[in-house]
Amino acid sequence: MQIAFTSTVEAGDVLVLPFPKDAVDTGRIEGEGAAALAKAAVDAARFKGEAGSIVELFATIGGAARRVLLLGVGEGKEADWRKAGGAVTARLLTNASSVSVDLNGLPTKPAADAVASFAGAAVQRGWRHDVYRTKLPETSKPMLTRIAIVGAGDEAEAAYARIHAVNGGLELTRTLVSEPPNKLYPESFVERVLNDVEGLGLEVTVLDEAQMRDLGMGALLGVSQGSVREGRLLVLKWNGGAADAETLALVGKGVTFDTGGISIKPAAGMEDMKWDMGGAGAVAGAMKAIAARKAKANVVGVMGLVENMPDGNAQRPGDVVTSMSGQTIEVINTDAEGRLVLCDALTWVQKTHSPSTIVDLATLTGAMIISLGSEHGGLFANDDTLAESLLAAGTATGEKLWRFPLADAYDKLIDSQIADMKNVGPRGAGSITAAQFLKRYINEGVAWAHLDIAGMVWSDKPGVNHDKGATGYGVRLLDQFVADRFEA
Ligand code: BES
Ligand code: MN
Ligand code: ZN
Repeated sequence: MQIAFTSTVEAGDVLVLPFPKDAVDTGRIEGEGAAALAKAAVDAARFKGEAGSIVELFATIGGAARRVLLLGVGEGKEADWRKAGGAVTARLLTNASSVSVDLNGLPTKPAADAVASFAGAAVQRGWRHDVYRTKLPETSKPMLTRIAIVGAGDEAEAAYARIHAVNGGLELTRTLVSEPPNKLYPESFVERVLNDVEGLGLEVTVLDEAQMRDLGMGALLGVSQGSVREGRLLVLKWNGGAADAETLALVGKGVTFDTGGISIKPAAGMEDMKWDMGGAGAVAGAMKAIAARKAKANVVGVMGLVENMPDGNAQRPGDVVTSMSGQTIEVINTDAEGRLVLCDALTWVQKTHSPSTIVDLATLTGAMIISLGSEHGGLFANDDTLAESLLAAGTATGEKLWRFPLADAYDKLIDSQIADMKNVGPRGAGSITAAQFLKRYINEGVAWAHLDIAGMVWSDKPGVNHDKGATGYGVRLLDQFVADRFEA
């Protein structure tokens, strides 16, 4: 979908006219009797200009029948405009080809960032993964190719350039999350990401199983050993900051399919576990976004990629593995595999890149979905300033977070009889004990946050920025966090 910033409304376009909440003045619609028709439509629909609400009508404008959408933009905040942008695409994706959104005539000119977010959301809402659908009816195929924003000004156009870069990252994340697990496994994840980010100037490192074995990554490899697919560690480094500036590490759980292993999951809904790589997917997309917009920051993205399968060679409940940190782990439940993958990725990135700050993202626990549903991601942090910046980035982007506690009393729950720790605690506080497990791999002095995004990467219903399916959660959040905290 193309976004254009223009100064005149195209004659053949669907005309979109934004209205603020409780200020729906149809008098501004030009054309023979058009204002009266619009007034009748507004009254019939009880349209009040609520953000994202739409009234559709036809009116004679300039001697021709014209399709007109009256679009509510609420209080005119950035989030309202974002909602409105998504709503336009949701309405027109499969039944209009070109749209002009006329900002002239609004009582107050929207902020540049609000217009950019409007356009960004309109594009994001139109993304679909139809590659495996060979029989999609003609009328269900997307046809919206162009949205012209009329009268926005240069500043809005400049603000959109950044959002356009972020959208590229979002598309990568969503594609990775949507792809089926027979197509997307550790090696093909690497291949797809590397193809997609080629030319952006990211430094690439890929570790195969032999290399990870030499490094002593026994926890990650223990998960991978039940699969015929080889595991990988994918590392993308963006050196956009000063050579002596601090480094941020983003670490993602990339379990390309999670059967649970020998502690196998029930059949119902197991297909969802194709998106158990959503943390790594978000890291890949965020790295693409910050490279595409040439962020002035040093960021390393690490993706721990494995498939968790039951097999004659799979790890058993009761096995003890040695992680790269040297700490030993009693594997009580092979379905608590994400933390086993992450702990070695965390150790590796601290040894090789000495980051000042680490943010990890993982679809780590079902318990997180019980706690927060799909409205907030769970945030755990050993540093209040870091937690505050992430919460703020979440609010600004609408990819919200909610903070959970860490405490020694929870940490004790994962002590083991036979090893340094076990990989699961008791039933209660399952998301917190998982975070405590990761915390045991964070070095003194490193600011660390863990985002449990189990409820966020996939959605059964359409949202503001996405259709049903992969949400791309995390990309806009991380991009905003990098901008606020490492580029300001
Ligand atoms: N990938 C799952 C967590 C998950 C479940 C994410 C449902 C999204 C939807 C994770 O590997 C897992 O299986 N966790 C277990 C941990 C338990 C064995 C302590 C869980 O949540 O049941
Ligand atoms: Mn699992
Ligand atoms: Zn998992």
